[in-house]
Order: sequence, then structure tokens, then C-alpha cells
Amino acid sequence: MWRVAAASGELDLNSSYMYLVFARDFAETCRVALVDDEVVAFVLGYRRPAIPDRLFVWQVAVDERHRGAGLAGRLLDDLVSAPGDGHAAVAYVETTITDDNTASRRLFASFAGRWGAELETSGLFEAQDFPDRHDAEPLHRIGPFPALARA
Ligand SMILES: CC(C)(COP(=O)(O)OP(=O)(O)OC[C@H]1O[C@@H](n2cnc3c(N)ncnc32)[C@H](O)[C@@H]1OP(=O)(O)O)[C@@H](O)C(=O)NCCC(=O)NCCS
Repeated sequence: MWRVAAASGELDLNSSYMYLVFARDFAETCRVALVDDEVVAFVLGYRRPAIPDRLFVWQVAVDERHRGAGLAGRLLDDLVSAPGDGHAAVAYVETTITDDNTASRRLFASFAGRWGAELETSGLFEAQDFPDRHDAEPLHRIGPFPALARA
């Protein structure tokens, strides 16, 4: 995941340690796609502790060679349709997307459309909230997902 994120040219790169912690403790809400045993795509998410039926998607990335083939969409679909290890079904997916990230906006709009879910956008992290130079990260909330998503 760290390698794909580093090569993405778009994502804020977290420490390699953080991806390992997520792989251990948040595997239920993360996915990787493998080609020939190599990770070529991932989605990193967690259930919001105070509202566990809301899944926050922190990062999603696909290796450049494999983009445009529906891989990111399949990883998101799997996150909301997989059994949740005893957790409540995912009712909403949240993510933030900078306004200039057309591919990501398209990915989540298309995901919402496939599931017949609403997509609502509102302010969340403004540019001035970041201690370093960073564009605003508006919140995109998708849902509700039908309870039968996991059927
Ligand atoms: C965003 C990203 C994950 C999309 O991955 P992908 O596997 O190519 O996406 P998909 O093939 O599943 O496409 C999903 C939808 O987005 C559209 N899309 C994908 N890339 C696009 C682009 N560059 N411009 C416009 N639309 C695009 C697809 O056409 C598809 O729409 P459709 O369902 O209406 O046909 C990938 O471009 C990427 O890794 N970007 C760099 C990292 C990043 O910006 N991550 C998001 C922020 S965390």
C-alpha cells in the first residue's frame, strides 16, 4: 500500500508504519488488489468510532498501469457488500476529495450511482485548518446503502 501510495503522485504519503498498523487492526475496512502477488491497488478505511455504521475511506489508489479498468470501484463495492465481522452494515461511506481530483470525484459519484445512494457534499477540512500547505478537503457522504447490500 505504501508503495502504491508513494507512486500515485496524488496522495499524502503516510508512514510505512501506519499502513502496517491499518493492515493489522483495520483489515475489515481495507482492501488490496493483487496482480501476480503484487499489490496494485488499495483502499484504506475505518469505521468512525462514535458512528460505526459510517465507513470513512481515507485513501484509495490504483497503480497507474491498472487505472481505468474498474479496479477502485470494485474495491469500494466489496467494502460495502462484505460481511462486517459482526459490525452493523455500512449505512454511509464518507470520504474527502480535493476539488481538483476529477478521477476521485468521478469514482465516488459512480459508486453512489451504482448503489442507488445519494451523494452529499459539505465543508470539512478547510485549507487554513492544515498546518502545512494543503488544499481544502470537502466531505462527500454517500448513502444510505440498502440493508440488503450484503445479501
Ligand atoms: C482515483 C483512482 C483511485 C481511480 O481508480 P480506477 O481504478 O482507475 O477507477 P475506476 O476504473 O474504478 O473508475 C471509476 C470511475 O471513475 C472514472 N475515472 C477514472 N479515472 C478517471 C479520470 N482520470 N478522469 C475522469 N474519470 C475517471 C471512470 O471512468 C469510472 O467512471 P464510470 O463508472 O462512470 O465509468 C485512481 O485514478 C488513482 O489511484 N488516482 C491517484 C490517487 C488518488 O487520487 N486517490 C483518490 C484520493 S484518496
